[in-house]
Amino acid sequence: MVGGETGRAQRPSAPSLFDVDSRPWIGTSWKMTKRLLEAVTYAEALAAQAADYSHLTNSFVLPPFPFIDAVARVLRPVGLSVGAQNVHWMSSGPFTGEVSAPMLVDVGASMVAIGHAERREHFGETDHSVRDKVVAALASGLRALVCVGESAAERVTRTEIEYVVRQVKIALDGVSAGDLPGVLIAYEPIWAIGEGSTPASPEQANDMHGEIRRTIVQLFGDVGETTPLLYGGSVTREGAPGLIVQDEIDGLFVGRAAWTVDGFAAIARAVAEYGEHCVEGRHARRVPDQRQEQL
Ligand code: PGA
Repeated sequence: MVGGETGRAQRPSAPSLFDVDSRPWIGTSWKMTKRLLEAVTYAEALAAQAADYSHLTNSFVLPPFPFIDAVARVLRPVGLSVGAQNVHWMSSGPFTGEVSAPMLVDVGASMVAIGHAERREHFGETDHSVRDKVVAALASGLRALVCVGESAAERVTRTEIEYVVRQVKIALDGVSAGDLPGVLIAYEPIWAIGEGSTPASPEQANDMHGEIRRTIVQLFGDVGETTPLLYGGSVTREGAPGLIVQDEIDGLFVGRAAWTVDGFAAIARAVAEYGEHCVEGRHARRVPDQRQEQL
């Protein structure tokens, strides 16, 4: 049964394909940048120093589709995850130009970002297409990194909480409690993303993460305590430590600042330093009993 007072009848729960893991998350989407040679050079340099932080973090890289295979061959063996920036909701069919979840699995992806603000803005993605993509990703065993976030207009009218909560509710509408461990949420306010933007303050991000946490627990019960909530939007190496120590921030999803290996590594080390304290820290309460015993 799905927990939580308002938990809806959802798809029957099968044993989850996904482990719950309390290590903090650090990842980057390259968006539409880099060429093949740059992609492989980046991956090899990252792999060479991944031992510094990979055991203390869940680190991931989301290259453009054509580079996933090459990057995954380099990064997966050293414990980093590789994923895609988008996926179609059908597993195959006459959808010219699209890529399905089973295809991503074939080339070594283990996760996929869904509903990034740039996809919503430029490619007409809606809360409902996000929902369908989340279901498709999870059904193929891909972790779904669901991106949500309000625009500046919602902040002006103080409707940002309702806006983001609605995005989360619709995105998770087809998810069973058994599959929830395969979901991550990235809170990325649109006003904080990209060149010329300023990041949310740690308090702003933490407050919205708290609202997202409450929503997921209300929908799914205690298992919702373990859903990783990542912050994204103009994260820098200087800003990363202040964000990751926030109670409700379980990871960082980084664009520009992690497009160089040095940038990624600097932020990953800040997250790893924090990860070292996670077992005794607040993340421990999110680890299910069974795993706590092992720790
Ligand atoms: P940014 O991108 O870090 O370059 O602002 C964040 C994102 O779009 O995920």
